[in-house]
Amino acid sequence: MVTMEKLRNEHIDVFKRIQLWESSQIHFLQETRDQYPVFVKELSQFFKTGLAYHFKVEEEALFPVLKNKVEPSIIQNLLFDHERIIKEFRRFELVEDLDLSIQILKSLINYLKIHAQKEEDFFSSVNLSDEEVKQVDAKAKLVELRSGA
Ligand SMILES: [Fe+2]
Ligand SMILES: [Fe+2]
Repeated sequence: MVTMEKLRNEHIDVFKRIQLWESSQIHFLQETRDQYPVFVKELSQFFKTGLAYHFKVEEEALFPVLKNKVEPSIIQNLLFDHERIIKEFRRFELVEDLDLSIQILKSLINYLKIHAQKEEDFFSSVNLSDEEVKQVDAKAKLVELRSGA
């Protein structure tokens, strides 16, 4: 179950990042504002590459297989989360006012945390057959090739 494991490891990575952002960086940034652009740049990089790719693998490789096994509303809800997170990220990128930016950042982190936890709970409850695992991995490979990752 290579793809599923990869995705779940990435969730753990997201939880770690969030913990770091929450415990130190945001608080710290409110005091030392000149560091903020550097932080925004790093975070944007993570969203545009790591997270966007993670979403793509879920949407194109995993969800189509899971859709046949679970309530369609579960997948719809996860897709809606992806849309909302991407939309919030775009808002975050465009905003210039620092206080507003930090405010959006907090809500973005919150959405991301809730979403990753939701998927963790869901993924751990799903059992894929060997055939389904192969299907997911093959589709993930296509995403990888297309993205040049
Ligand atoms: Fe997701
Ligand atoms: Fe995910």
